[in-house]
Amino acid sequence: MEEKLKQLKERRDAILAGGGPKRVQAQHDKGKMTARERLEAFLDPGSFVEIDAFVEHRAVDLGMDKVDAPGEGVVIGYGTVDGRLVYVFAQDFTVIGGSLGEMHAAKICKAMDMAVKVGCPCIGINDSGGARIQEGVDALSGYGDIFYRNTLASGVIPQISVIMGPCAGGAVYSPALTDFTVMVDKTANMFITGPQVIKAVTGEDVSAEGLGGATVHSEISGCAHLMFATEADTLAGIRKLLSYLPQNNVEDAPLAHTADPVARELPALADIIPDSPNKPYDIRDVIKQVFDDGDFFEIQSLYAMNIVVGFARLGGRSVGIVANQPRIMAGVLDINASDKASRFIRFCDAFNLPLVTFTDTAGYLPGVGQEHGGVIRHGAKLLYAYSEATVPKLTVIVRKAYGGAYIAMCSRHLGADQVFAWPSAEIAVMGPDGAANIIFKKDIDEAADPAAKRKEKIDEYKRNFANPYKAAVRGYVDDVIDPADTRKRLAGALAMLLGKRESRPAKKHANMPV
Ligand code: HXC
Repeated sequence: MEEKLKQLKERRDAILAGGGPKRVQAQHDKGKMTARERLEAFLDPGSFVEIDAFVEHRAVDLGMDKVDAPGEGVVIGYGTVDGRLVYVFAQDFTVIGGSLGEMHAAKICKAMDMAVKVGCPCIGINDSGGARIQEGVDALSGYGDIFYRNTLASGVIPQISVIMGPCAGGAVYSPALTDFTVMVDKTANMFITGPQVIKAVTGEDVSAEGLGGATVHSEISGCAHLMFATEADTLAGIRKLLSYLPQNNVEDAPLAHTADPVARELPALADIIPDSPNKPYDIRDVIKQVFDDGDFFEIQSLYAMNIVVGFARLGGRSVGIVANQPRIMAGVLDINASDKASRFIRFCDAFNLPLVTFTDTAGYLPGVGQEHGGVIRHGAKLLYAYSEATVPKLTVIVRKAYGGAYIAMCSRHLGADQVFAWPSAEIAVMGPDGAANIIFKKDIDEAADPAAKRKEKIDEYKRNFANPYKAAVRGYVDDVIDPADTRKRLAGALAMLLGKRESRPAKKHANMPV
């Protein structure tokens, strides 16, 4: 037995050494941890249990029969984050560049299958040269197996992709199919075709960072949901993200302890909103006052900044927040904002996270670019996602709620359970200036002093229509509230809605506009 135990130790030690000291050093020199170091840093200390360490490839072509690949270039297993179970896989760049062959993919698939079976989040750390070239179609089939599982697991368990190195070619589609893609600044990149292919095909000169770095995907493409400066910050960020989420689609998110009383009044809120309807302010200042302990975990904070989405807690309960951002483009809804918000809403709905919406928007963005870009079908996603959502839906109309945007921002008509409006709310088909110009055109044109007449008509419209009471009269707004009571009223409504059950007609699946 002693001899056998010695052999076991030798085998395990060889696997734990990954690609060997030189390649590990090269990894560290790039400011990157190894796969195992990442898992140690991510999971609760001592909680990681590795499985499938002894798996080997069975490729023989192109010299692979002579290649040793410790751990098959990927470390998989389970552990805990704040005591809650997660499944993980981490590609090991020190072993054949973390490239994905048949058995490497089989390990990842096992982690995903187990995560679905036991109902816990699956977190994948990507650091790979992509499909292992020597394994040809076996490598490609491995990607197919992963994409298939990503899709089946979508809406069942939270799936998080962490990019900590290259993620090239079709490999990017696994992150794209998961719920959140998190990138490390400067060391992570994602692209379908790399700089060399682009140079050859289109003649464009671009670096890997400029093509698909964390900043590009956070600010321009919207493919990354979060980015952090270092690997340690990234792993800590994912731990925090998980704290807001349930383990799976049939559980609720954990109740957090808070000393912040739900009845806390918010006297400062009224001062944040400017008296003038066109003055900008930062909606995040409102969010931070309303929710527990001033904590707000923003998602996609650098993309489509005219809408803000993220997680917070109310009375210790996790909620998803969607809010127009008047500080950016007057909070208009456009193609990118609709994409960003609708995907977030669908995540929250799939995982039993109530939605709280703050409305202050001038409407959908006018322009040829938006129309030709398909704002009709993109904007429709927001209507679709809110209408489809059956979780508790609470809406606060803070200021402007005009036209289609009033409807789209979780109005009663899309199934909001409780709609509150501040006295500053303006709910109408359009703003007073535009409305007066159209419906009083004749009066204004024929007046001795058209400018004075226009002002008079605008004031009249403002007084009579740009307020919350027309909607409250119809019951579209449940109550007009003092901003200071917002936290108390939202918390009360959330508690009232805890038993909410709403079903939809049975169907195979719906057909969301894209
Ligand atoms: C086999 C690979 C590999 C791959 C890297 N390696 N990528 N081996 N298949 N795809 C090996 C290298 O040969 C090298 O082995 C080791 O990993 C480290 O790679 P380096 O090139 O030395 O590292 P670095 O300079 O940091 O460059 C990393 C890289 C580069 C940018 C990722 O390796 C690269 O461009 N790789 C190919 C990327 C690619 O085009 N992949 C295919 C994508 S298509 P040694 O023994 O020398 O250390 C795809 C299809 C999926 O993925 C389709 C799904 C639908």
